[in-house]
Amino acid sequence: MGRKFVVGGNWKMNGDKNQINEIVNNLKKGPLDPNVEVVIGVPAIYLAYVKSIIPDTIGVAAQNCWKVAKGAFTGEISPAMIKDVGCDWVILGHSERRTIFGEKDDLVAEKVAHALESGLKVIACIGETLEEREAGKTEEVVFRQTKALLPAIGSNWDKVVLAYEPVWAIGTGKTASPQQAQDVHASLRNWLSSNASPDVAGAVRIQYGGSVTGATAKELAACPDIDGFLVGGASLKPEFVDIVNATQ
Ligand code: G3P
Repeated sequence: MGRKFVVGGNWKMNGDKNQINEIVNNLKKGPLDPNVEVVIGVPAIYLAYVKSIIPDTIGVAAQNCWKVAKGAFTGEISPAMIKDVGCDWVILGHSERRTIFGEKDDLVAEKVAHALESGLKVIACIGETLEEREAGKTEEVVFRQTKALLPAIGSNWDKVVLAYEPVWAIGTGKTASPQQAQDVHASLRNWLSSNASPDVAGAVRIQYGGSVTGATAKELAACPDIDGFLVGGASLKPEFVDIVNATQ
């Protein structure tokens, strides 16, 4: 069975109620390709609000969560809370969490494990920095980050989407070329075949993220191992609809 194209919009720390209303109205107007799964990553404080105004056909994700259900963790939110306000997804391991907030592979894995145990679906992000790419370490880094997730994911691969986001392409306007992205996606899938299973490798959806726009999405979407996008800046704009529809 083919892998269903999945497009995520990661709003990051952007949006207020006015802007959110505009974005949601634009998504409602679409039209969005019904064969594409759409998930929007919303700041925690707006999760319940967005859930109350968005059609059920669009998934809503938190952008982070903590690794236990409740307790003395000031400022954190748990997967149980995300579910309690009606949302089904969480984005974990984003490079901004890793670099700005110091999240390491093992913490990301603990969060992924707990989110999955709690019944959330997870978009798990991986990707190399420019320095690592220039040192020829792209695969090493991407495989290391993914390896840390294997025990956390266990048999729950059907609840996981991987997002390959080269850090040098995030928010820089410098999209990876379709060939660069396809190469990493294909070698990651190959690695998963040996290190998870051929079934997992064949079924798991790997999104590309990093300066995707309405103008670059079609060519990237045509690559055989690119199964969707995780979109930052352009997910706040009307062109997000074009990105969702990039396989049409
Ligand atoms: O998670 C999406 C992301 O990091 C890419 O952001 O703004 O380069 O599309 P952007």
